[in-house]
Amino acid sequence: LGMRHDLYIGTAVDMAALADPADPQYRQIVSREFNSVTAENVMKWGELEPTRGTYNWAPADELIAAAKRNNQKVRGHVLVWHNQLPTWLTTGANDGTISKAELRDILKNHITTVVKRYKGKIWQWDVVNEAVSDPWDNPPTLHYKGFWAQHLGPGYVADAFRWARAADPKALLFYNDYNIEAFGSGDPANDKTQFVYDMAKQLLRDGVPIDGIGSQGHLGTQYGNYDTLQVTAALKQFAGLGLATAFTEVDVRSQLTAGVQAGDSNEINPRLQASAANYSVLLQACLADRHCLSYTVWGFTDRHSWVPGWFSDPPEGLATIMDENYQPKRAYNLMKADL
Ligand code: XIL
Repeated sequence: LGMRHDLYIGTAVDMAALADPADPQYRQIVSREFNSVTAENVMKWGELEPTRGTYNWAPADELIAAAKRNNQKVRGHVLVWHNQLPTWLTTGANDGTISKAELRDILKNHITTVVKRYKGKIWQWDVVNEAVSDPWDNPPTLHYKGFWAQHLGPGYVADAFRWARAADPKALLFYNDYNIEAFGSGDPANDKTQFVYDMAKQLLRDGVPIDGIGSQGHLGTQYGNYDTLQVTAALKQFAGLGLATAFTEVDVRSQLTAGVQAGDSNEINPRLQASAANYSVLLQACLADRHCLSYTVWGFTDRHSWVPGWFSDPPEGLATIMDENYQPKRAYNLMKADL
C-alpha cells in the first residue's frame, strides 16, 4: 500500500498462513504491501508459555525474523491482557493456589522475560490491552475490568509499564483498546475514550512510562460511519498529553444477511462501500496527525480473518481489504488513494 513519508502501514500476521507452502500469495502480500507487522496470536501469553516455565518462542522468533528480512517494524502484541492466558495461570489464580503476591511476581517476570528477549527488535509494545469495560458491560459505569484488575487491582497497569520500560528502555510503550476511536460531541458512546484519556493523564502525572495509545479500530458497518471530526478529536486529545497514537487492529465487518454473502467483493456492494469509508476515515485522521505513527489492519484478507469465527450470531464477515482470493476490495483502493 505504500506510505506517506513517516506513516507506517501494518498488518496482523497469521503465522500458520505465513508458513503455509500452499499459500505463497499470503507471504508475498505481507512483504509487498506493509512496512510494519503485528503477531496476530503468537506473542500472547497462552501461546508463549502454555506450560508453566516452558516458553515456546519459535513462532514469535519467526515473526521477528520475517520482519527483519522484509525490512519491517514490529508491533509487539501483547504483554498484559485478560484473554488467551495460559490455563495454569488462570486456574491457579482463581483457585487460590497462586496468591496475589505470587501472581504479581509472575506478571513481572513474564513482562521482563518477553521484553528482554526482543529488546531492540520491537518498535511499539502493547503493554496493557483492553483493561477498561464498555457501557454495555455490567455494571455500565466504566471500570477496570477482567482477570488482572480482579486479582491485582488497577495498579497493575502502572506496574506493567514500569516493568516493560526497565526491560527495554527504547521500545515505545502503548496502552491498547477498542471503542476509543472517537471523542467528544457529548456522545455517551465516546465515554470510554474519556476514561482512557483520564487514565493516561493520571499515569503520566504519576511518572509512569507510557508513550502512546493504540486505538484498535474494530468497526462494523451496522453501526454506521465513523465521523472524521470525532476520530480526529480523539487522536488530538491523546496527542495533547504528549502521547503518540496508532490505529492497531483496523477491520470493518458486516453482517452477512440480506444478500450480503461471504466472498462478495463487488465494488458497489453498499456494505463494502461503508466498510471502505470507515477504513478511510481512520486513515485520513491518522495521516492528518503527525503523532499518529502507524495504521495496522487486523489481517488483510477475508481468507484469514478472525471475524467469521468470532462474530457468528448473526454471522459477520467481509471485514478486511482483500477478498478470500486476495483481490483488492474497495477499501484497499480507497486507502491507496488516501496514501
Ligand atoms: C484475536 C485473533 O485475531 C484471533 O485469531 C484469536 O482467536 C482471538 O484474538 N483484540 C485484540 C486481538 O487485541 O488480540 C484479538 O485478536 C482481536 C481483538
